Amino acid sequence: MCGIIGYTTKSSNSVDVALSGLKNLEYRGYDSSGIAFYNNNELDIVKAKGKISNLDEKLSKMNTTSNCAIAHTRWATHGEPNETNAHPHHVGKVTLVHNGIIENYAALKEELQQAGYTFNSQTDTEVATAYIDYCYNKCNNKLQALIDACKKFRGSYAFNVIYEDEPNTIYASRKDSPLVVGYSNKGNFAASDVSAILDYTNKYSLINEDDFVKITNSVVTFYNDKLQEVSKEIKTATWDANQYQKNGYDHFMLKEIYEQPKVIQDIFSRYYNDCDYADIDFSNFDNIHIVACGSAMHASLVGKYLLQTYAKIPAMVEVASEYRYSEELITPKTLMIVVSQSGETADTIAALRLAKEKGAYVVGIVNAVGSTISREVDKCIYTYAGPEIAVATTKGYTSQVAIFSTLVLNAMKQKGLLDEDTSSKLKDELLTIEDKLNEVISNRNTYLDIAKDIYNHNDLFFIGRGIDSTVCMEGSLKLKEISYMHSEAYSAGELKHGTISLIEDGTPVISIATDPTLFEKTVSNIKETKARGSYSIFVTTDKHNDMNFAEFADKTVIVPEASEFIQPILVVSALQLIAYETAKLRGCDIDKPRNLAKSVTVE
Ligand code: G6P
Repeated sequence: MCGIIGYTTKSSNSVDVALSGLKNLEYRGYDSSGIAFYNNNELDIVKAKGKISNLDEKLSKMNTTSNCAIAHTRWATHGEPNETNAHPHHVGKVTLVHNGIIENYAALKEELQQAGYTFNSQTDTEVATAYIDYCYNKCNNKLQALIDACKKFRGSYAFNVIYEDEPNTIYASRKDSPLVVGYSNKGNFAASDVSAILDYTNKYSLINEDDFVKITNSVVTFYNDKLQEVSKEIKTATWDANQYQKNGYDHFMLKEIYEQPKVIQDIFSRYYNDCDYADIDFSNFDNIHIVACGSAMHASLVGKYLLQTYAKIPAMVEVASEYRYSEELITPKTLMIVVSQSGETADTIAALRLAKEKGAYVVGIVNAVGSTISREVDKCIYTYAGPEIAVATTKGYTSQVAIFSTLVLNAMKQKGLLDEDTSSKLKDELLTIEDKLNEVISNRNTYLDIAKDIYNHNDLFFIGRGIDSTVCMEGSLKLKEISYMHSEAYSAGELKHGTISLIEDGTPVISIATDPTLFEKTVSNIKETKARGSYSIFVTTDKHNDMNFAEFADKTVIVPEASEFIQPILVVSALQLIAYETAKLRGCDIDKPRNLAKSVTVE
């Protein structure tokens, strides 16, 4: 979702640097982009619909010499993606880029219209720009104007502001949307995340919600809302710019799929060598709420299954945007587990704040180090999967599943449910997952072959039982996200209660049956679809290698058999690659699918 980068420098290349940083924010998802800079005291604002390359092309025909620039990628919320609605917005003396939503913009707009302001766009951001200008005209102090305006804004924002009478200084503030400051010898930055600035510096500070920041090319000063200076820790990013490159892969998604064996292996190695779960005592809680969005919610479903099946602990999974409607169930005896790759998902943040208000103990499973969720939870368990650039998550999801597996093993230990023999067998298995995962992802021809069978279809179904049904949900989401095929995940036994009416001659059905105890029942359900003409793609483990699948499967995918603590990770890796190959055949923009954002910072 919207990306921001501002850069003020002693040299004159601020536009080039801001633009290159903006390209590193592309992964967040956007549909237009823009940049503002002062050249010889004249303001230039350049905007383009679509890809950043369109903006780049416009800029290449201009004189872009400037010491300071603010740039933006917009993911449309208020008003369609066109140049008028794209950022930066300029009103009076103020130029602004914004990530978030000003919820009370309609009331503020009325107030401003009465004061004589007029508006060109449909955006809440133009209203915010005008409101800062309005405040500046009243108090004639740039920081104070920003503070006063922010006090009026309801909703979420990360702002970079430039004032006409101080064109080389960036003012910044944030609430519920991410923003960091970056420091380099040549100049200073304010950006949505560290990835935007890693080519230039790894030194950064987090901007807190009540910070107001003045950024010049040599000095960065943080203030509180009383205009008192506050000191700030300067951190060093451990992710390097190289991790933001494709390194020879056709797509970031493919690269990230191939990173999974190491990422997952590292999680289990850390668990056995350096585990610090001592403060999560499951016996302290009456109920467990696992809350997340999208793929993180699918990983949570695996977590719930493992908790219930192996640690005998019931848990509820809720999508974050619906969690507030379960408010009555949250008590000080609630253990909430929030799961988020980015750590910035607005719905998840809102849910965790609600739970904290109600006294729950909140554990986060988070990838992005230093993100809002990682800072606000009582205990953060990092997945350390490294930066994930492709919008459709892969290693983000599997690393969350792996963390759940370790949490459940720990809960079993706490409850005396893990005997020495099982424990040591599981340890051997988990610590060699890298080989099994490599085996799955090296099977590329099988996935391409399946993709060729399905890519021309419009509808597809995934079915499975037990833990496999949760994996179906993730496999189906991957396919939808990047190939734009309509796909539904169904519990295999539930299909016949309505949805089977959609199966026609040739409709692809991908079924998963890894659990030997559910195998026969799932096969019966597959046969029900076959009897209605489905094209059946069957995913199972090598435990069933000697069976004859021809009766109910047109194509088969075999993954290594494993315990349920890692089986979903192995199966989903195959499904990720089926989705990838299918999207490729359909000519889709795999890393940046239409309409989607990597980091969804609005509710
Ligand atoms: C977006 C992404 C999904 C992701 C979800 C939750 O919708 O496109 O891939 O699963 O947000 O993101 P999070 O960062 O909280 O895991």
